[in-house]
Amino acid sequence: MKQVLKERLITVNDKTHFGFESIDEDLKTKKVKNVFESVATRYDLMNTLMSGGLHKIWKKYFTQILTIKNNSKILDLASGTGDICIELAKQNKNFKIFHTDINIKMLEQGQIKLVDHGKIIPSLVCDAEKIPFQTNYFDCVTIAFGLRNVTNKRKALAEIFRVLSPGGKLVILEFSKVWSPLTKIYDSFSFNILPKLGKIFAKDQKSYQYLVESIRMHPDQKTLKTMMENEGFEKTSFLNLSGGIVAIHQGYKF
Ligand SMILES: C[S@@+](CC[C@H](N)C(=O)[O-])C[C@H]1O[C@@H](n2cnc3c(N)ncnc32)[C@H](O)[C@@H]1O
Repeated sequence: MKQVLKERLITVNDKTHFGFESIDEDLKTKKVKNVFESVATRYDLMNTLMSGGLHKIWKKYFTQILTIKNNSKILDLASGTGDICIELAKQNKNFKIFHTDINIKMLEQGQIKLVDHGKIIPSLVCDAEKIPFQTNYFDCVTIAFGLRNVTNKRKALAEIFRVLSPGGKLVILEFSKVWSPLTKIYDSFSFNILPKLGKIFAKDQKSYQYLVESIRMHPDQKTLKTMMENEGFEKTSFLNLSGGIVAIHQGYKF
């Protein structure tokens, strides 16, 4: 009984971060939903403006180093407007890809884009913390710029581990900790320019302030690798791109 009460208390009081703010977990989920509902129609344009087009190169590279066999079943989590799904489908390896996200507005934008690219891929609402698929189902799970926004990353990693089949792998593309000589210029650009770009082009400064802050609160390369290992992933590794502005983490379920 005592244990049950303790667990309840922990659940009720669990805190997390929304950018630099410390808030209850439930509230973070709602706030992240508001961010992506607000930016959905301008999401792709903003990505290109903020990264100077680099995000397309990172995503292409990310999908090219996946090296998964033909006919693999791939779950792309937090897919948003579907860039990763499109890149995977372009490989013509007869992958069975699922375009998923917790946010319907982002999925709608993604589905329009998938159709524009002539890709027939199912879109479905899916919370990375509660994946609606059976255990041992996927050969590969991808998540690009999504994990940072998930409220409880530990739960999401455990769920991803569950739905992967033995031998399957998780591949994460996410902002990470930049190489220290770049920190000053990177911080200055991020804190001074990005929210202003958000104000001008997406009419939403706050969401882009959240973006900048959420990157700083995300676990660094080594911490994320350890978090993956804690949930059972093996042969984990990471690769920095663009001086660690982003990193690709991989891990296997055996
Ligand atoms: C920055 S976007 C990334 C979209 C896309 N993967 C890309 O690389 O352009 C982050 C996405 O994570 C989604 N998201 C946030 N929390 C989530 C969760 N718990 N489960 C699934 N998706 C989530 C948001 O709705 C949003 O579409």
